[in-house]
Amino acid sequence: MQTELKEVLTEAAAIISACQNPNDIMNARAQFLGKKSFLSTLYSRMRELPAEERPAFGATINEARAEIENKLAAAEKAIKENAWKSQGPQLDLSLPGIHSERGALHPLTVVRRELESIFLSMGFEIAEGNDIEDEYHNFDALNTPPDHPSRNLADTFYLDNGMLLRTQTSTVQIRTMESHQPPIRIISPGRCYRNDKPDPSHSPVFTQVEALVVDRGISMSDLTDTLQNFATLMFGKGVRTRIRPHFFPFTEPSAEMDISCVVCKGKGCRMCKHSGWLEMGGAGMIDPNVLDIVGIDSELYTGYAFGLGIERIALLKYNIPDMRILFENDIRMLAQFTGASL
Ligand code: DAH
Repeated sequence: MQTELKEVLTEAAAIISACQNPNDIMNARAQFLGKKSFLSTLYSRMRELPAEERPAFGATINEARAEIENKLAAAEKAIKENAWKSQGPQLDLSLPGIHSERGALHPLTVVRRELESIFLSMGFEIAEGNDIEDEYHNFDALNTPPDHPSRNLADTFYLDNGMLLRTQTSTVQIRTMESHQPPIRIISPGRCYRNDKPDPSHSPVFTQVEALVVDRGISMSDLTDTLQNFATLMFGKGVRTRIRPHFFPFTEPSAEMDISCVVCKGKGCRMCKHSGWLEMGGAGMIDPNVLDIVGIDSELYTGYAFGLGIERIALLKYNIPDMRILFENDIRMLAQFTGASL
């Protein structure tokens, strides 16, 4: 039996090493380990042996099996590796492609840029301001009395070093007039901060665009004309504008600016609370006190200023029902409005 086994092992080694492909391996496996193989017949012969010889006999057959198995496995691996190498670089066309996400501009950025280009086309320049300001530029120089409620901790974020987060972009009016003599014609977009609880129409951080025009002979009709031009360029022909009396410490007279509701065209709907009008921001003729504070001759010059809320415009343009959506930065929501792909 031992010699027969040796012969079979030698034969198996030769045949296995001559295998060229998976099919050869399959045949060799059947020939040496299959039901009709010599090794398998040895198992049935085991029954003829005396009981004490059986374990050793069984172990010998198992060893022989294991040897053949190992050789088959090694040969199979070598065949696969060769096949891989001989085919050159692999390109599996059935693999899914690599998906890369595509970003897009935030709705507020889109609207801010649109506003900028509208005002640039009307001859305005863009002035920059700081988010961190002092009380002088945010309140005092804007003719705001020391006891004005907007100075309260409940409204304004004060920093430990005595500075504050600006509550309005009107600060840039002061900084521009301090450093430039008229004619002045600027807008200044930027973030503002107020201690407000977030709700559908409030956020502790929001964006304004400030406009400031100072020159000889500037009047309220320049303000209403600019407002109407802006509204037409932003929302299209047919949109109407109006101003209503209001109060701001830094303008006299002061006004609030409205546009006719762009959703219902002024008929009345939920968006305009059935009034037909949408509030856009505050405005007015610069108070002579403010001109005096910054050193511009209020006998020679007059000016107007206004501040628009950008979020309001973005909500209208994108038909977004709640301002918080703009700041929560849920990427799926933003993709819905901007065409970014996730
Ligand atoms: N700063 C005001 C606010 O945040 C808005 C405003 C009103 C800006 C009148 C102006 C202005 O420039 O003239 O409520």
